[in-house]
Amino acid sequence: MAKRVGVLTGGGDCPGLNAVIRAIAIAGAKRYGFRTIGIEKGWKGVLEMLTRPLTPDDVFDIVSLGGTILKTSRTNPYKDKKTAELLRENLRKLNLDALIAIGGDDTLSVAYKLSKEGFNVVGVPKTIDNDVALTDKTFGFDTAVNIATRSLDSLKTTAFSHERTIVVEIMGRHAGWLTLESGIAAGADAVLIPEKPFNLDELCNLLVKKYESGKRHAIIAISEGARLKLENGTSDVVVQDIVKDAFGNVRLGGIGKAVAKAIEEKTGIETRSVVLGHLQRGGTPSAFDRWLGTRYGLKAAELVANGEYGRIAALRGTEVVGVEMTDEILETRTVPPDLAELTELFQPIK
Ligand code: F6P
Repeated sequence: MAKRVGVLTGGGDCPGLNAVIRAIAIAGAKRYGFRTIGIEKGWKGVLEMLTRPLTPDDVFDIVSLGGTILKTSRTNPYKDKKTAELLRENLRKLNLDALIAIGGDDTLSVAYKLSKEGFNVVGVPKTIDNDVALTDKTFGFDTAVNIATRSLDSLKTTAFSHERTIVVEIMGRHAGWLTLESGIAAGADAVLIPEKPFNLDELCNLLVKKYESGKRHAIIAISEGARLKLENGTSDVVVQDIVKDAFGNVRLGGIGKAVAKAIEEKTGIETRSVVLGHLQRGGTPSAFDRWLGTRYGLKAAELVANGEYGRIAALRGTEVVGVEMTDEILETRTVPPDLAELTELFQPIK
């Protein structure tokens, strides 16, 4: 009997998910002879038994599509005992030989728990935030960096023409990868990331100096999770409302607007804020993400075929390899100090 392999996508959607799904369904059928069963809406789909077969024919045409044909959710099945039991019960009912969970740290934390409970699980790391441990890069990130970079480039023309400062809020949760790479690629005047808390007065002084030098415009790339230095020596995030998802993550957002307002009040420089928001996750995946997603999908199918469970497909250097899930998967992979320092090195305002 052919192996039955379930596939689900959980957490925020991201470009490249369909490339992974396609590679699993095609390699599963053609190389390894297993049947791929799509589970819709992430872990919610296991709780509600939302499944459909995925044949090579079903996935033939999806690689260039953003989002996920399987849909997604932020459902946390371990949130309470009842749903955790239903998760186990339904996984048994689905009669799967293995499950491939494609997702970020939250989705993979569930995959890790299930694997420790004895289920045959393989993970694939996705997210535009690039903050998943055990891999050098997640797919989806490249597309998002390109969108953010192009947006910063575009905003420069308005900043220049109107002699304005524009504060651009960029996603990434508590990791600054997206802001760092897009901010430096676009030559932003300040790149503010969570790993390097910033002081508002210092930022304002820099802007005033730049305007006084005759260059009367600026672009500030700021992470949604950037941290403001406080007077007591600590630092904190700035959020508009305290709203938490099922995994306990606070919904970030609002720092761009708050910083723009403070700059205008403190310096008198005309300042606007722009939130790139979900535009960073949408649309067509870059060729890099389609290719990385394809390689991840192929590796996940291979891990299942070899019975190498409890692993994720991971990029190490230029190789995609299977890496055992450990407690490290529960941690956020943030920007290391040597890269965080680049925000200062490339800061054009002295
Ligand atoms: O994790 C991906 C991400 O886009 C984060 O950068 C962002 O903070 C969050 O998801 C937004 O979540 P939602 O789509 O639920 O608003």
